[in-house]
Amino acid sequence: MATIYRGGFRIRSIHYCFILLLFASFVLLVTGTATAAEPTSVGELDSDDFVSQSKCANCHAIIRSQWQGSMHAYAYTDPLYQAELLMASEETGGQTDEFCSRCHTPIGVLAGEVPPIDGSMASDVALEGVQCDLCHTVPEGAGIGDGAFVSSPGDVKWGPLDDAPSAFHESEFNEFYTEAEYCGMCHNVNSPFNGLPLDDTYTSWADSQYAEEEVTCQDCHMTPGITQFEANPGRSASSAPKREHISIHEIVGGNVFMLEVLSDGLYGEKAEERLQKAAIIEVSVPEDASSGEDITIDVSITNSGAGHKLPTGIAEVRQMWLEVSVTDAEGKQLYGSGRLDAEGNIEDAVIYHTVLADPDGQITTKLWEAESIVSDNRILPKETEVESHSFVMPEDAVDPILVEAKLLYRSAPQDMVDELFGEGTYDVPVIDMANAYGSINGEADIPSEPTPGFGALLLVMSLIAVVCICRTKK
Ligand code: HEC
Ligand code: HEC
Ligand code: HEC
Ligand code: HEC
Ligand code: HEC
Repeated sequence: MATIYRGGFRIRSIHYCFILLLFASFVLLVTGTATAAEPTSVGELDSDDFVSQSKCANCHAIIRSQWQGSMHAYAYTDPLYQAELLMASEETGGQTDEFCSRCHTPIGVLAGEVPPIDGSMASDVALEGVQCDLCHTVPEGAGIGDGAFVSSPGDVKWGPLDDAPSAFHESEFNEFYTEAEYCGMCHNVNSPFNGLPLDDTYTSWADSQYAEEEVTCQDCHMTPGITQFEANPGRSASSAPKREHISIHEIVGGNVFMLEVLSDGLYGEKAEERLQKAAIIEVSVPEDASSGEDITIDVSITNSGAGHKLPTGIAEVRQMWLEVSVTDAEGKQLYGSGRLDAEGNIEDAVIYHTVLADPDGQITTKLWEAESIVSDNRILPKETEVESHSFVMPEDAVDPILVEAKLLYRSAPQDMVDELFGEGTYDVPVIDMANAYGSINGEADIPSEPTPGFGALLLVMSLIAVVCICRTKK
């Protein structure tokens, strides 16, 4: 009897388990769908719900001054954004106003003050762009891209610390702040008309080795490491304890151009330094060559330091290219490509960027017109591209021959900027990201950048020479 009873009991318990399991999955399903976050909608909040960054600066002065050197602080005032925002609005009859503003003027959209895009209805706090309180009152994300953030402004400031009390606000640890998905809410942009992926920074990170190794956006962009995590010891507030690591809020990218324009040259340097850590180039040429011979120069470009495609962001506007030149021992140019002409256009070079087309197949740099991606030759994280150049060795070339390659970057084409702002308004800086050299028929002298010390010495020497010449003339 006892065995039968036990057997019966076992069967019944299996049934119980089954029913329980069913019930549990049902509960999970219901609550799962019920708690899937929705992005906070337009006009759901009030701009008074958000605190101005100037208040946070009372205690977080260093973080605030770092933020002022980031494009987040200029997300609305940025003249390039303003020019494109206006053009998009005019050409689509206002259909893009809310879309663009959600990431560039998030508080304005949440409070229903922007659009209008001219900012005439916007409070001061909305015009602070991507600012402290907007970023630190996001309890969770509602997905990736197109401004998929949940906003819950109030007393609680969420962050990466679990022991950071403050007299001014509640502090709460939230793991989300340490994850790439946090940045991904805004750093993936899809066309509002056809879903075309226009900015794929997050996606190209997520598909890379960096994601596998859990090297996040924050590791590279919010620490001094640039290409990996590196601790930044300090205090995050005047009255706070010293900690082993405080995240840096410069959050710099490659936009030397706008950072210099907006900060009177103060902040461009950090972006330049970042670009110089992004890639490595190498030149490979034959050791010897005779006149009349066809010479091939292979230049490899490795995306060694960027955790996403290189370049990234608004990739239909950004430009990266190689300048290659070959000179003989007397300085005569035997081959050249990738230089700028008098108007600032790049002469015969492969440009690494995306090319977009409108519905008629016409090439466009306007996000709102784009319907297809014609090409995308940007370099994937940790990948190498090889570019080949060739020339015929002339009869009269004097050995040894020097081959020089430079990897260059600029935030926007000069002609686009001239068209938007008028010629002569802005000179788009060209950033030297990396250099490499090769020699044919002997060891050519590799040009070295004159050091400031050397320049000063040269100046002093020429002054002495001028004085001497003047004296002898008397
Ligand atoms: C683009 C969104 C964004 C903006 C704007 C922003 N923060 Fe942060 N902040 C973060 C993230 C993300 C972290 C955590 C990074 C990490 O993983 O270490 C953080 C960390 C912090 C921390 C903790 C510091 C530490 O590492 O111990 C403080 C304090 C802070 N932010 C204050 C501010 C203040 C003040 C401002 C405005 C001047 C500001 N933040 C602007 C996203 C932002
Ligand atoms: C009266 C001074 C004061 C003001 C004003 C202030 N904070 Fe703080 N905040 C602190 C202190 C102190 C800490 C603790 C830092 C620590 O322990 O390292 C802190 C911590 C934080 C943290 C870390 C939270 C965590 O758990 O990771 C964030 C984020 C933060 N503040 C954001 C802000 C923002 C945004 C503003 C403006 C809206 C602001 N703070 C205004 C003093 C202040
Ligand atoms: C609320 C949306 C939002 C969030 C969240 C956000 N960003 Fe941004 N970010 C922007 C916008 C908008 C710009 C462009 C501003 C401009 O150039 O006009 C920008 C600019 C940048 C730039 C400068 C790009 C350049 O061209 O140099 C970097 C780097 C950057 N963000 C990194 C991050 C990282 C890392 C995180 C996560 C810790 C993050 N952002 C979170 C909206 C956001
Ligand atoms: C391994 C380090 C590394 C990681 C991880 C990384 N970045 Fe970058 N990022 C760089 C470097 C280096 C550059 C400069 C070269 C360039 O513009 O691509 C850069 C540039 C940028 C730019 C500027 C693009 C422009 O228009 O000039 C943005 C925006 C950006 N990163 C956002 C992100 C976001 C968002 C993530 C996470 C999803 C991320 N980065 C992850 C290193 C990194
Ligand atoms: C999902 C968030 C998001 C939306 C929506 C968005 N942007 Fe951006 N925008 C960004 C981020 C992030 C960057 C920085 C990327 C980079 O560095 O190239 C940026 C950069 C830019 C820049 C480059 C600014 C500079 O100084 O180089 C322009 C111009 C721009 N956006 C225009 C627009 C326009 C126009 C729209 C609407 C059609 C729009 N954006 C919609 C997030 C967004």
